[in-house]
Amino acid sequence: MQVLNTLLQDFSSELSKVQKVADLLNLKSKYIGKQGPLSDVMKNLKDATPEERKTIGAKANEVKGAIEELVSKKMLELEVQEINENLAKDKIDISLTDAVLEKGLQAAGYHPVTIIQKEIEDIFISMGFEVLDGPHIEDDYHNFEALNIPDTHPARDMQDTFWFADKKHLLRTHTSTIQVRGMKTRKPPFRFVGPGKVFRCERTDASHEMVFHQLEGMMVGEDVSVGNLIYFMKTLLTEIFKREVEVRLRPGFFPFVEPGFELDIKCLICGGKGCSVCKQVGWVELLPCGMVHPNVLRHGGIDPEKNSGFAFGLGLDRLVMMRYGIDDIRHLHGADLRFNSQFKSF
Ligand code: DAH
Repeated sequence: MQVLNTLLQDFSSELSKVQKVADLLNLKSKYIGKQGPLSDVMKNLKDATPEERKTIGAKANEVKGAIEELVSKKMLELEVQEINENLAKDKIDISLTDAVLEKGLQAAGYHPVTIIQKEIEDIFISMGFEVLDGPHIEDDYHNFEALNIPDTHPARDMQDTFWFADKKHLLRTHTSTIQVRGMKTRKPPFRFVGPGKVFRCERTDASHEMVFHQLEGMMVGEDVSVGNLIYFMKTLLTEIFKREVEVRLRPGFFPFVEPGFELDIKCLICGGKGCSVCKQVGWVELLPCGMVHPNVLRHGGIDPEKNSGFAFGLGLDRLVMMRYGIDDIRHLHGADLRFNSQFKSF
């Protein structure tokens, strides 16, 4: 009885010092384990009188029960504590961005061309267009032939092409290749856009680069008209610039459309007065477009007697320059962090 009387107290005072689950389990077995004082008491019960056995046995159970309860309470406490510690360690610091920026470090973000591309994709998706992709390395057929530019056609000279040594493959000079691939894999009516990089063997200056970006668009159906074309282009430009922009339509020649147009916007850099971006004209060629030529529809497996369509090729780099007031296209690929870090967006 003497042992039992002090057992609970001793246990309690040792318990208050325990900080870890492992220590708690050790303490538990020290007191009520097989080698512990409580089992000693139980073992010795056989030498006691039946009367003593009753009271000592009852007291022993009571102490054991109390210790077990204290252990499970403490266990819960320690587990919660452990979870909280882990949570504190693994915490996602949502203020990290600012912290990084304050230290003058560069946080990652989208390139301005990607920002515009994603935005335009969203605009077209909201108008029911699909977004298609196509290869950078193309063959003669997809880049020229199927677009109504036969082998001997002078229009091939409009695009200075990077040819591969086999003279059959090339780096695509425009995203119009996606028109061909898109037409062949779907049946009218359909509408899609196809953004991507294009390549031309050009001398670079403030408005020309060898690698730039276009977004092709195409809509084909039973009675698609110039009216549809103008509607979609106007909606697009209003959404992009978030204001009315002045536009003008001029006739333009592209072998794959008939009639073909040049849609220009009033230069947003100089307001029309003339600068290096608009080549002193005040207007910037932004959106060549037109009604898809019957030969092109035929190459795509579409009957031009039943269907018509419009197509356009939007130059993304110029659009970026207009929107952000960038006066030299070479900044876009200049890899200068002072330039890139101005367009952080996540
Ligand atoms: N592919 C032409 C180019 O890169 C741009 C273009 C013009 C695309 C008219 C079109 C279009 O879809 O209808 O110069």
